[in-house]
Amino acid sequence: MTTPIDAAATPRLNVVVGVTGGIAAYKAVGVIRELVLLGHDVHVIATEAALRFVGAPTLEAISRNPLNVDLYEGVAEVRHVALGQRADLVVVAPATADFLARTATGIASDLLGNTVLATTAPLVVAPAMHTEMWANPATVANVETLRSRGVTVVGPASGRLTGTDSGPGRMSEPEDIVRAALATLRPRDLAGRRIVVTAGGTREPLDPVRFIGNRSSGRQGVALAEAARDRGADVTLIAAHLEVALPSGVASVEVGTALELAAAVARHSAEADVVIMAAAVADYRPERTADEKIKKDGSGTALTLTLVENPDILKSLAHGELGPRPDGQIVIGFAAETEGDPARFLEIARAKAARKGADFLVVNRVGWTTGFATSDNEIRVLDRAGSIVSDAAGDKVSVAHRILDLLS
Ligand code: CTP
Repeated sequence: MTTPIDAAATPRLNVVVGVTGGIAAYKAVGVIRELVLLGHDVHVIATEAALRFVGAPTLEAISRNPLNVDLYEGVAEVRHVALGQRADLVVVAPATADFLARTATGIASDLLGNTVLATTAPLVVAPAMHTEMWANPATVANVETLRSRGVTVVGPASGRLTGTDSGPGRMSEPEDIVRAALATLRPRDLAGRRIVVTAGGTREPLDPVRFIGNRSSGRQGVALAEAARDRGADVTLIAAHLEVALPSGVASVEVGTALELAAAVARHSAEADVVIMAAAVADYRPERTADEKIKKDGSGTALTLTLVENPDILKSLAHGELGPRPDGQIVIGFAAETEGDPARFLEIARAKAARKGADFLVVNRVGWTTGFATSDNEIRVLDRAGSIVSDAAGDKVSVAHRILDLLS
């Protein structure tokens, strides 16, 4: 599962969606719908071949705009270039091998080809074809050419294809295509910055089958890693037991326990411009981990576990105890609190900000139903002195961008 798309952070855009002739054309409806629901003005250009796979009324109804197909319609308004010139973004999904080949060589034999040549907007293509066609040297070279010209290629994913075969060639999911497309418009204000993000929750083993853990899903940390990646940063994600997939385009390091997380942070923070500690770290671990499964003795007496304290990674990092911090390094901590009284909540958060010594502390309230496995979050950001420097509410992607805004 991926994080939801950030609706609030993008203004209304004029988006051209090109649909070319492949079986995945039915999934283009999902791309159009997603963009329309996000409030964008979507103009669809279908090739003649696309209309063999998906109906014009469907494309018109979903896009809420007239469908564009014929190069010789709307000649008086010079439509063959006007659509491209007006566009803020051009997304072609699915993009067939034929479309990729024509675009790589600049052939403008239909309305979509003309539009793609006439636009200066970012071009995003989502290829879909059989594995053999995708792997063919001609397609490989065409994709390479397009990439070298700045075209964003999303996917293809690997999986079941039209027939009984499977492999790389499936069009990416509409939500992923839309997210990647909108990301091309984001400011790349973190380009060249090295950012380490920790995410998820550590697990401290009691025996080979049991552990002490927590309910962190890793969603907020992953959203931060993806948002930083989309803004051009060079991201390392230190992931502890995520409930969501590792994101693409970031270097991931998987860890299990707090001690493993501490070692990974010590190693990767040494070169980082920014370290964001979004992981929920177990404060204690069992004093010893049994080699065999712990058995109950049946006597009815309570079992006593001895726990020892884990290092406070954030505090040690902020105080330079994990190693020398690079000049200007920014450390951001998180605090999840269950306190319901707003004044007391702030008091606890301020005390924690002072104790941890991080440059910023992002605080949110969590409980049995809020904060953890949900896709929404509500946060406040305190500086070391305890002043509120930012706040945000909404999906975890919007919240992630608001946190990253502190860096720029
Ligand atoms: N943290 C850490 N190492 C620990 C515990 C927490 O680095 N052993 C980090 C978390 O990644 C988070 C921040 O410290 O960024 C705050 O975590 P939280 O669990 O809220 O704080 P605690 O230190 O556990 O404080 P308390 O027990 O008072 O809530």
